[in-house]
Amino acid sequence: MGHLAQNRPAAYQPGMTQHAHDRLLIIDFGSQVTQLIARRLRELNVYCEIHPFQKVDDAFLRAFAPRAVILSGGPASVFDAGSPRPPEAVFSLGVPVLGICYGQQVMMHMLGGKVERGHGTAEFGRAFVTGAGERLDLLDGWFTAGREQVWMSHGDHVSQIAPGFRVFGTSPNAPFAITADPDRRFYAVQFHPEVHHTPNGKRLYENFVRIAGFTGDWTMGAYREEAVRLIREQVGDAKVICGLSGGVDSSVAAVLIHEAIGDQLTCVFVDHGLLRQNEAAEVVTMFRDNYNIPLIHADEADLFLGALEGVSDPEVKRKTIGRLFIDVFQKYANGIEGAEFLAQGTLYPDVIESVSFSGGPSVTIKSHHNVGGLPEKMGLKLVEPLRELFKDEVRALGRELGLPASFIGRHPFPGPGLAIRCPGEITTEKLAILRQADAVFIDQIRRHGLYDDIWQAFVAILPVRTVGVMGDGRTYDFACALRAVTSVDGMTADYYPFTHDFLGETATRIINEVKGINRVTYDITSKPPGTIEWE
Ligand code: XMP
Repeated sequence: MGHLAQNRPAAYQPGMTQHAHDRLLIIDFGSQVTQLIARRLRELNVYCEIHPFQKVDDAFLRAFAPRAVILSGGPASVFDAGSPRPPEAVFSLGVPVLGICYGQQVMMHMLGGKVERGHGTAEFGRAFVTGAGERLDLLDGWFTAGREQVWMSHGDHVSQIAPGFRVFGTSPNAPFAITADPDRRFYAVQFHPEVHHTPNGKRLYENFVRIAGFTGDWTMGAYREEAVRLIREQVGDAKVICGLSGGVDSSVAAVLIHEAIGDQLTCVFVDHGLLRQNEAAEVVTMFRDNYNIPLIHADEADLFLGALEGVSDPEVKRKTIGRLFIDVFQKYANGIEGAEFLAQGTLYPDVIESVSFSGGPSVTIKSHHNVGGLPEKMGLKLVEPLRELFKDEVRALGRELGLPASFIGRHPFPGPGLAIRCPGEITTEKLAILRQADAVFIDQIRRHGLYDDIWQAFVAILPVRTVGVMGDGRTYDFACALRAVTSVDGMTADYYPFTHDFLGETATRIINEVKGINRVTYDITSKPPGTIEWE
């Protein structure tokens, strides 16, 4: 059942998605930027899904019934033994196919063209493509000044195009930058139209989906109606519990599910005593008072802070909080008669299966906290109404559902909360200082109109006291670090370039207004090599 999977299957099962939209299939060959293709298409109100090439066979294609197919880029070479291929059937579906970079090469290779190894001719970076004279529907309105900037990234190159193909665009190093067989509606480009460095790339996607006959039916209004229907179908008369963190994802999921099934939904908000200033009150007011959604406010600060006493190792902190969270959630959930489902705000990027060529295990940097493990333990089935959405689509859905803008635009906040912003041992004294300093920092950011430009901003209280002088007296108080980053998905991040004036003013305010801090530093580490949180 697609995004409302009952006890989510490990892998996509063809034919499971029930929604009625036209859809586009992106076959992923492991490019770093495949998700961006999906982003560009979703911006055009086109529903698409990314699936790794290993999954896509003839049966899958039939069940998925795409209106168009895109073959992504990827790191492989068509010359490598066992290099990835789409099934032949992709080319006999009668739908438009767009091959990008590796997708272009594999297309040429399979359709009778020639690809050559890129001995020393690899091309990476900016290039300019010029038209070859003949009009191509894919390129309508694309060339702005007779030529167009694109982003190339390839080792091998096509040396002979497949029968039926003609050349429509060339660059100095890529004589086959854009080729197509317009009769069969097969298009192949050697560059990446989805990246920022191909500034007019969206136009190519616009043309491609128009050629394929998409009507732009993927809108949040339509999604909302359909999700409500599917939630009702899935849940029936049963009860659903939802772990609410106050973050955007779980909040939007809760409001959507409440719209579908009303008081069959109960939310459990676990207050672990590691929330920011006023946070618990804001979340409870928003849900109980504004939305009349049944909400259990589980005040378990003593339990969590008690268990964390004397703990300074970051992983022990994270694991302790994760374990207690599950225990507490379960305790309250047990009190809800007839609960059969657990609602989660899982997003599409969590669901996309990544293409792994190495197959090796990846290193655990941090044990992330979520309610994983609960469904099996409690015999609950999952309701995940956001599983097909990207973060910005969740925000759009939140707006569609009437959630206040201040809630929708909130910066992400980690499950373990302030625990991981308080390196070393956590004490109630430090938490109180941290809350105040954090509130001043965020207030500064809002006053200067910077909140929406920043992905996440917070204060970390450092486990060190420093000497200062205030008035005529000596102080010996904590130092803190301000952290503010820009990011797209939290995977990589850059520190935010505040002005010196802003930083100076903020430091002065924190030191004047927050008793217990006498030194303010600004963390200018990017991720990598740093991480966003301090622990
Ligand atoms: P890091 O510190 O890994 O953080 O660079 C990346 C993003 O993830 C958030 N984060 C978490 N979110 N549970 C969450 O729900 C966690 O355990 C957790 N740890 C980090 C972090 O705030 C940032 O947005």
